[in-house]
Amino acid sequence: EKGGHDYFMLKEIDEQPEALANTLRGHFDRGRIILDEQRLSDQDLRDVDKVFVVACGTAYHSGLIAKYAIEHWTRLPVEVELASEFRYRDPVLDRDTLVVAISQSGETADTLEAVRHARAQKARVLAICNTNGAQIPRESDAVLYTHAGPEVGVAATKTFLAQVAANYLVGLALAQARGTKYPDEVAREFAELEAMPAAVQKALSTVEQVRELGRKLADAKALLFLGRHVGFPVALEGALKLKELAYMHAEGFAAGELKHGPIALIEEGLPVVVVMPSPKGRAVLHAKMVSNISEIQARGARTIVIAEEGDDTVRPYADELVEIPAVPTLLQPLVSSVPLQVLAAEIARARGYDVDKPRNLAKSVTVE
Ligand code: F6R
Repeated sequence: EKGGHDYFMLKEIDEQPEALANTLRGHFDRGRIILDEQRLSDQDLRDVDKVFVVACGTAYHSGLIAKYAIEHWTRLPVEVELASEFRYRDPVLDRDTLVVAISQSGETADTLEAVRHARAQKARVLAICNTNGAQIPRESDAVLYTHAGPEVGVAATKTFLAQVAANYLVGLALAQARGTKYPDEVAREFAELEAMPAAVQKALSTVEQVRELGRKLADAKALLFLGRHVGFPVALEGALKLKELAYMHAEGFAAGELKHGPIALIEEGLPVVVVMPSPKGRAVLHAKMVSNISEIQARGARTIVIAEEGDDTVRPYADELVEIPAVPTLLQPLVSSVPLQVLAAEIARARGYDVDKPRNLAKSVTVE
């Protein structure tokens, strides 16, 4: 049933191109993005003047990625917040606020309470969910199902990529309704999204390389992950996967923050995973990142660099180079996340742990 894979998570990592295609299917028709079955009208979307994204864990990381795309495409302010924090402050919400609640299970207690709080304040709530008929979509104004299929591994993988893709659809639907993008631009962005399952398939060609690397890193005491721009939430997610599966200390940082503290952690032999921005798409950030890597390398770090294929400038700084396909900058998380998932799973396996059932964790967290 694991389809020839050593563990379910690897099967689900492998299923990501298909999951992604299923998330996107049916959401573009006659030149327009279609979000949900009807419950959110174009007028509702036009009235939105602020977006909150609320979620927990991996779903929260998908929201952090969404912020870059939604703000860029729509010019709407987007706040991304942990559901458990959102509901206990006093967020400023009204009927023109769109709250996007992201939850794979649709049963996460904190996210559900955040939805209830938002609705009580008259905000409109759109659920992004992978589980038909779950509580969060039932209590929301509208729902966008990710259709990634059931996920057996406790650690989210294909549902994470599906959430990221669904968030992009929300961004495009808002841009379309608000007119911040012309119809032909929306169509072009959607076409780029539709090309992503094939790009993820290409990213999967790194699996064997990364599995071997994972076995080599099994004895490390800790790992750091660095990213910039959309690569920053990818770094956070890479660190979360490693904590939950390999029970290792792992932290994700925005590379620009290095000098403000984390660089003190760098010592001889410490593995640091760096998610490189595209050299063409984000040349300035790319150059800054190269200088960050050279700094940590000079202090003895063992650098594992995830970079676009053909990005030769990083070669001298990479103790291990993992090449991912070149894709539009905002969509890069869909490919750069793949090697980080595999890395966490394989380190865990090399340490003798059950990758599909990490200790202390449940697939759906229904207590706060
Ligand atoms: C990590 C993971 C968790 C969930 C979080 C939210 O791999 O799976 O961090 O993402 O518990 O769960 P959902 O999306 O069901 O609300």
